[in-house]
Amino acid sequence: MAFLLARLGTAVLLLAIMAQTTSGVQRENFKKCENSSFCRRCRKVEPGKTPYELLPDTLSHKESTLHIELYNKVTGVYYRLELTALKNDLFRLYINEKSPLHPRYEVEYALKDHPQTTVLQLVEKTSTHITVKNGKNKAILHVNPFKVDFYVGNQLVISTNDRGFMRFEHLRTKPPAKPDQPQQVEENAENAEKPAEPAADQPDAPQFPGDGAEDDPGAWEENYKSHHDEKPLGPEAVAMDFSFPGAEQAYGIPEHADSFALKSTKQTDPYRLYNLDVFEYEINEKMSLYGAIPVLYAHGKETTSGIYWNNAAETWVDITSSADNDFVKSLVNMVSGTVKKPQVDAHIMSESGVIDVFILLGPTPMDVFKQFASLTGTANLPPIFSLGYHQSRWNYNDEEDVNQVATNFDKYDIPMDVMWLDIEYTDGKRYFTWDKLKFPHPLEMVKNLTEKGRKLVVIIDPHIKRASDYFLHNDATDNGYYVKSRDGKDYEGWCWPGSSSYLDFFDPKVREYYSGLYDISKFEGTTNDVHIWNDMNEPSVFNGPEITMPKDLVHYGNWEHRDVHNIYGLVYTMSTYEALFKRSGGALRPFVLTRAFFAGSQRFAAVWTGDNMAEWEHLRISYPMCLSLAISGISFCGADVGGFFKNPDAELLTRWYQAGAWLPFFRQHAHIDTKRREPWTYNDDLLNNARDTLRLRYSYLPYWYTLFREHEVNGTPVIRPIWAHYPTEISAFTIDDQILVGDAILVRSIYQPAVSEVSVYFPGEGKVAWYDIETYKMYLGKQIDSVSVTIHRIPVFQREGTIVPRKMRIRRSTVAMRNDPYTLVVIADGEGRAQGNLYIDDESSFEYRHGKYLYLRIKLDGKKLTSTFLENLATYDTKSSLERVDIVNPPKDIKKAVLHSKAMGNVDLETKYNPHNNVLTVRKPTVKMGEEWIIDLIA
Ligand code: GLC
Repeated sequence: MAFLLARLGTAVLLLAIMAQTTSGVQRENFKKCENSSFCRRCRKVEPGKTPYELLPDTLSHKESTLHIELYNKVTGVYYRLELTALKNDLFRLYINEKSPLHPRYEVEYALKDHPQTTVLQLVEKTSTHITVKNGKNKAILHVNPFKVDFYVGNQLVISTNDRGFMRFEHLRTKPPAKPDQPQQVEENAENAEKPAEPAADQPDAPQFPGDGAEDDPGAWEENYKSHHDEKPLGPEAVAMDFSFPGAEQAYGIPEHADSFALKSTKQTDPYRLYNLDVFEYEINEKMSLYGAIPVLYAHGKETTSGIYWNNAAETWVDITSSADNDFVKSLVNMVSGTVKKPQVDAHIMSESGVIDVFILLGPTPMDVFKQFASLTGTANLPPIFSLGYHQSRWNYNDEEDVNQVATNFDKYDIPMDVMWLDIEYTDGKRYFTWDKLKFPHPLEMVKNLTEKGRKLVVIIDPHIKRASDYFLHNDATDNGYYVKSRDGKDYEGWCWPGSSSYLDFFDPKVREYYSGLYDISKFEGTTNDVHIWNDMNEPSVFNGPEITMPKDLVHYGNWEHRDVHNIYGLVYTMSTYEALFKRSGGALRPFVLTRAFFAGSQRFAAVWTGDNMAEWEHLRISYPMCLSLAISGISFCGADVGGFFKNPDAELLTRWYQAGAWLPFFRQHAHIDTKRREPWTYNDDLLNNARDTLRLRYSYLPYWYTLFREHEVNGTPVIRPIWAHYPTEISAFTIDDQILVGDAILVRSIYQPAVSEVSVYFPGEGKVAWYDIETYKMYLGKQIDSVSVTIHRIPVFQREGTIVPRKMRIRRSTVAMRNDPYTLVVIADGEGRAQGNLYIDDESSFEYRHGKYLYLRIKLDGKKLTSTFLENLATYDTKSSLERVDIVNPPKDIKKAVLHSKAMGNVDLETKYNPHNNVLTVRKPTVKMGEEWIIDLIA
């Protein structure tokens, strides 16, 4: 009966998921904190009563690490604490039980390598505190009550357990059910599938009463809706509080469809981090979405700091700040004249694992971003085609359709690099196969694309159709490659193909097998020009609890799904990346797109923000969502242009193209039930505006490409919030409808209909000027200015003092533009100076790793413009030359210019001054970008 009910439930759920007529997120499918027993327990901890104390007699110290025991006075449990000094102004704080009943999961794959340690200096040890130093930074460990304070110099920037919210639930044996009492069942149980089992044969272990978990009916089993979680290990949560004195705002912990600056959770649920497939997600929500990165930044006028909570289990984060002070308190402060220092407080709670937290001490915004990158890595330089425009929909129906769409881009003279195929290309959702009727000649289709310099991306999801005629299912069944239920059987769930099982990517053998499937000899119809889209990898299970896997499933190594849930998607994309890498013998840069992610995913894939909607507010939220990802390591982010669900009208689609062109990943995509929305399917205005927007994007590709290279090397985000470069401008702390692309370009998205004027915040303390990229009209920094707009474009500005490289001959794809000449847009500052970088290589291979590239610094100093190699040993024989230089704010009365280069000698160049926009153009220097040169401007 229970089984029937469950099946019925499944059918209903499936219908709900497929029915595109329903609107809005189904909140009841997803837990609130009160439905997660560990979240309830952790959130209930009272401030100021921590039971933890350090035992100074146990202190030992070796090179980079201090070891000490921590004791819980109430439960009598001992813990081991390690504090390690890391390079780049980081500390690592690790706490685990001294003798856990079973090993506790420690996150794999998120960190790039072992973080580099440095010397930890023991400065002082007394009965009340221990002081250690890492260079100029220090940490003070307070003995009783236990807390750790972290300082930059003498400034306290982060306190842990200052409020006493630390909770570390020790592993224990299950208490026998009292004979006169039925087993406790959680209140929110509805149709629980399985009755609770009595305690299994667990080894005897000491029982430590007193932490309140024993009284929680959800501690040993938990039901949510029709789902039962067996929780064989019982309560095992870990939680900690962090205070950031001086911070005005907190940021990070993606993915949420919410503002970039985090909001207070005082009156709401905490932000949740638990990778979920949320159908028709809504904006301004703290609910989980597809990915989770537990990095949190706190920023104030004086300093920026952060923490990375290295835990892959379900996690909730409470945020409060001094701004939460109620009105009465603010009045008292005002009257008494006390100005309270701002402060942000966070409380992080995870269901299992250990406490492993990295303390990022900044002190500048760019420092913290780089510190996080030093832990989790950066994205490999993407092949340049992936920075071009991507055309997708669910689905392009057949080969003819794909060819037709691609041909239309040429017909309408619009650049496009990649065509995409969604799940319908497969033979009945059997990944690595083709629907032979609709796609009988995939290789020919790919050839048609590549002949025009284009690529194909196909989708591959992690669920495997349980069909006896499917080789992958048979291989996986025979070799035990699937994730298992608690009874050791292959877990079976529902996804696109119907009954499905899920490969266990935590098993190295599975990854090895899976990598092989991408081999060109194995994946019929593909070539090195076919790249991969990984979707549904939260993982999405239509009939699972909260549309995902049950937490009590078992993975390789005997870890519960509970422990590793948030890294399933990461490990999956890691396998795909490695597969594509191997496929070309390590020669070509893979491109992978993923929906689920965790810290470190940037090393393997780009991310898009999932199934958004054709609504203005969804266009609005794409900037904050990608900003949040960018500062959390994942720069390569975009949102479905036009919105996945529903049909955008021409104005919304136009604005979406314009905003999307300034996000790193630029793809149009749409649901199967939507109308066609390729640029020529609306009207001439839309077609012309879309064409201009895409051409604008392509003209800036040299700048994007250089920024991605700098991201790879330095860990700098490609798009940035304004406060990344203007950290003291408080009014910019909550601006998230504007982004900086690198540090030279400022973009303001337009996300309302019928707009003829918008206000734009120009940063720079009144000392910096910004120039409209089309008209070169100047706007002065640190003020909100009103900018008039037409439907033709959104406001974009280049900062004075910068040089931005462009290519102005737009062709059908990036390959066709590879050898094209460059144009430099130079905006001289008040002193006649400007500078910028340009990175050039073959745009597709890993040869750049062997020094085959050019990294140029281009500088204007008064009347001299120079290009010099930033890295002398690197060389690349580019065919591209310099076509034109536009200098805004040029030196006065320039009559001509003279080029000096080794290969060309001294050459007189033609110049032209335009008094209307104050731009001096230097024409056709034609010097090769591969050599150093000087251009003298002569009055
Ligand atoms: C998911 C993806 C969406 C895709 C669809 C079918 O909903 O988020 O982009 O089109 O699955 O594969």
